[in-house]
Amino acid sequence: MESGIVTMNHECKATSTITIKGILSLLMESVGENKDDSKRVISLGMGDPTLTTCFPNTKFAEQAVADALHSAKFHGYAPTPGLPQARTAIAKYLSDDLPYELSSDDVFITCGCTQAIDVSVALLARPGANILLPRPGFPIYELCAAFRQVEVRHYDLLPGKGWEVDLDAIEALADQNTVALAIINPGNPCGNVYTYHHLEKIAKTAKRLGTIVIADEVYGHLAFGDNPFVPMGVFGSIVPVITLGSLSKRWIVPGWRLGWFVTNDPSGTFRKPKVVERIKKYFDLLGGPATFIQAAVPRIITQTDEVFFRKTIDNLRHTSDICCQELEDIPCISFPSKPQGSMAMMAELKLSHLDDISDDIDFCFKLAKEESVIILPGTAVGLKDWIRITFAADPSSLRDAMKRMKFFYQRHARKQ
Ligand SMILES: Cc1ncc(COP(=O)(O)O)c(C=O)c1O
Repeated sequence: MESGIVTMNHECKATSTITIKGILSLLMESVGENKDDSKRVISLGMGDPTLTTCFPNTKFAEQAVADALHSAKFHGYAPTPGLPQARTAIAKYLSDDLPYELSSDDVFITCGCTQAIDVSVALLARPGANILLPRPGFPIYELCAAFRQVEVRHYDLLPGKGWEVDLDAIEALADQNTVALAIINPGNPCGNVYTYHHLEKIAKTAKRLGTIVIADEVYGHLAFGDNPFVPMGVFGSIVPVITLGSLSKRWIVPGWRLGWFVTNDPSGTFRKPKVVERIKKYFDLLGGPATFIQAAVPRIITQTDEVFFRKTIDNLRHTSDICCQELEDIPCISFPSKPQGSMAMMAELKLSHLDDISDDIDFCFKLAKEESVIILPGTAVGLKDWIRITFAADPSSLRDAMKRMKFFYQRHARKQ
């Protein structure tokens, strides 16, 4: 009886955790209340670049999937850690940026990066465990931790320092029950891209604290500013790293649900028989992505040309520039630095410039209602009175959305 109540309480805690999708759907409903408004809805809320024609995927990838499907060789189950040829291709792809070679045994195929996050948290969970997560961050981590009863300890990202990890906070938060320090690079929601030097410092800090690093690199290589993308696995010989990624963002196919959970540890912590067995057993529980999508991975990874990747980067640089330029003209919004990567940025609301807006949630709901523009309140990613703007949108919609935000500001500006 008691254990049932305990379980229910945990469930309540988990399901009451905020999700981005949950807030965005409420915002969409509030647009619906605005009956007189004939304005088309512009959503800068969701990180799904397929919602615009400006970020097309590559026909190579589509053809690779179609060929795998039509070959009729991949209608059956794949081995639970993933199809061997897909694991090998991902190991090779990631090794190209590392000072050592990954083996296909280091790679496990997941349903998108989302499932890779869940796998990481599930595998590390044990009674009393805690995990260090960035604030602002990506709320799926909190949700997974709540379901697994892993305590979350937030460390701040520092807006004045390119959203770097507050390493002093990490030192203060960690204890002997800290099972991992998670970072997101390139960053969602902040658009940060960490330098080699900063990543090395993170690795050394984690080593000193006796914990591992989970590196969410779902936006890997989507860097368009001064800092090149450096994978955390480069520091795998300093500290064990679990790298999470997917085809979703770089190949612009989030619906294909093809991700990876990869162990980077040349010193062999993850290759201990008991650890390997635990990971394999856990994967026996998971279905994994469709076999024909897995079968297409080697061609998708090896045949996508640089022109496609460069185009996406150029588009993201262009749309993030538009976003920043237009925001400069809205006095109630400021941002600490231009994004350097990923598809989103954080901007701060200066509520003292506004008359009748109480906080970020109020701002976003009124904006949705009055202007049919959807933007994520910062509260959804852990930072009250900020907003997250996704700039993976077409330029004209972005400009239109910013213009409407300007009108919104003018209507709500505090009278002198
Ligand atoms: C930081 C971060 N991690 C993981 C994911 C999930 O990736 P996927 O769509 O491959 O499941 C996202 C998606 O937006 C993300 O922003």
